[in-house]
Order: sequence, then structure tokens, then C-alpha cells
Amino acid sequence: MEGVSGGLLAHEVSSAGGLGLIAGSYGDYEWLAHEWANAAGERVGIGFISWALSRQPATLRRALDELDPVAVMLSFGDPAPFAGAVLSSGAILMIQVQTIADTQRALDVGADVIVAQGTEAGGHGTTNRATMPLIPAIVDLVAERNKNTPVVASGGIADGRGIAAALALGADGVLMGTRFWATAEALVPAQGWSAMLAATGEETVRTHVEDFARGRDWPHQYTSRVLRNRFVDHWQDASFDASADLQILRHDYEKALVNHDYDVVPISSSQSAGLIRRVEPAADLVTTVISEAEATLTRLYRGVCSER
Ligand SMILES: Cc1cc2nc3c(=O)[nH]c(=O)nc-3n(C[C@H](O)[C@H](O)[C@H](O)COP(=O)(O)O)c2cc1C
Repeated sequence: MEGVSGGLLAHEVSSAGGLGLIAGSYGDYEWLAHEWANAAGERVGIGFISWALSRQPATLRRALDELDPVAVMLSFGDPAPFAGAVLSSGAILMIQVQTIADTQRALDVGADVIVAQGTEAGGHGTTNRATMPLIPAIVDLVAERNKNTPVVASGGIADGRGIAAALALGADGVLMGTRFWATAEALVPAQGWSAMLAATGEETVRTHVEDFARGRDWPHQYTSRVLRNRFVDHWQDASFDASADLQILRHDYEKALVNHDYDVVPISSSQSAGLIRRVEPAADLVTTVISEAEATLTRLYRGVCSER
């Protein structure tokens, strides 16, 4: 989670039994190395954005050589140029996918774990499919290819019920992003927490607006799911033909970033936002959702047995 998941958050997730990922995102090695130190030797991984990494390939090399992550997740773009280096380093290669074609590619390049991302997910993704139909389709594809590659579900999962549902669909685990925005260790200012806690989950939209505002030239198929705000509503349908418009957009955005003004800065958020009711320590959150999932699965199992 770009700018949100630093070393401390990843440390707490891993120490509670999950796998924390530090946001290597666009490949800023200095930021990554700084956050790596905050993980204090805990078993954590790093996530990178593949199309951006292709402009900074040295970042991956340095991360593998100097930081030695337990896992590397590649998302958004062709993983092929990087897969070999990750695999030969001994790190677990996780590839986040949105489509069947992406999944075929991920299996071809030797992914150890497929992370299947539905369109409900916060942050970047596609409008392709929701998690509910996507997961079984990908689980079936992996089975058809006679692979044992675990499938991890992502997108719209924010509590133990979501985890239980993902397991019922055939997933082997889940990846949660948005829910960790509201944790004590996330690199989020208090205003950002308040905005997330106030959200119902009905106000998210997929958009290019923030990418235009910060000059990130994402491939067109990837939009970012964010909480709608005044800024997004104003610019969502703009064509940016006039460069003056782009200048206003960027000026307003940069000013708001400094002031943590979330009427302007879009918050990357899942449709699960309304399920987040408090800010809590990340380790407690991991423990809570695991016991919620166990309780849900036990309840369902007992229900099935009592009807026999
Ligand atoms: C604030 C935020 C930032 C994100 N940044 C990244 C990123 O830098 N790289 C990436 O692969 N995915 C990123 N994602 C998407 C996550 O990898 C994941 O697909 C998503 O959070 C899962 O859905 P959920 O938000 O419903 O839990 C981000 C998500 C959020 C909420």
C-alpha cells in the first residue's frame, strides 16, 4: 500500500502470524531501505508495481541483494522481466492479477503465489471482475494447469466473514489492504483515519484523477478506487485538453497533500470501507480477523452437521 505500509506496519502484521508487505510501489529505493529498517529484522516482504519497476530495475536488484525480503509481490504489468531475479534470490514470488490472461502469464513465469484481485479493491486495479466470480475462476484455472500454486483472494475483504467467504470460494488465503489503513502503525495522518471511519463503502469510485494530479502515467486499464470527495467529483469527467486545467488540478492537489486535506486528496479505498469502525493496532486486527474467520467457519460447519 503505497505510502501507507511501512516497516512498522509490516512488522506488526508478520509478528501476529500474517505476512506484512512494505510498499516498494514505484521503486524509490531510499524510502524502501528506510522503512526496511523499521521492520527490525521481522520476516516481511515487499510489493512493487511492475510497469514502474521497469523504469527502475536497479531497485529490485538492490532490494534482493541488500534487504533480502522473504517475498516480493509484483502487480500491474508484465512480471516476466523480474520473475527470474526474484525466484533465484529465494524470495517467494507473489503476482497480483485481475484476469485469466494475467493468471496464465503469472503461472508461466513461475509465480509461487497468485493474488487474485477483484474490482472492489482499494487502490489500483481494473473494472474486470468482482472477487466473488473471479476467485473460483482462477482457482479452477490453476487446477486445470495441474499446479499447486496457492491462490490468495484480494478485494473487498475486511473481516473474518470475508476471509471465510474467500476460503469457501477456493482461495488459500487473503490479502487485505484497506482495512489496514485504519491501524495505528499505518503511515496515515489522523485526518485520513477520520475520513475512512466516516465512509460507508458506498462512495467509492474508480478514477484516473489522482494519477493525473500527481503525474503518474499509469497504463489506461488501471484505475484507482478511491473515496469520492469534492476534488474527484469536480475532475472525474474532465478531459484535460487544456493544459491550464492540469495546472490547476496539480496545484490544488499538491497544496492539499501538505495540509492532509481529504476533501481534495483522494483516499484509496475498497468498497469494504463501511466495515471499518475503529483504528486499532495491526497485530490485534490480524488476531481478531483470524478468530472471526474461525468462528464463522465453525458456525457454518455446525449448521451443516445439525441438518444431517
Ligand atoms: C491505500 C492503498 C494503497 C495501495 N497501494 C498499492 C500498491 O502500491 N501496489 C499494489 O500492488 N497494490 C496496492 N493496493 C492494492 C492492494 O494490493 C490490494 O489489492 C487491495 O488493497 C485489496 O483490496 P482491499 O483494499 O479491499 O483490501 C493499495 C490499496 C490501498 C487501499
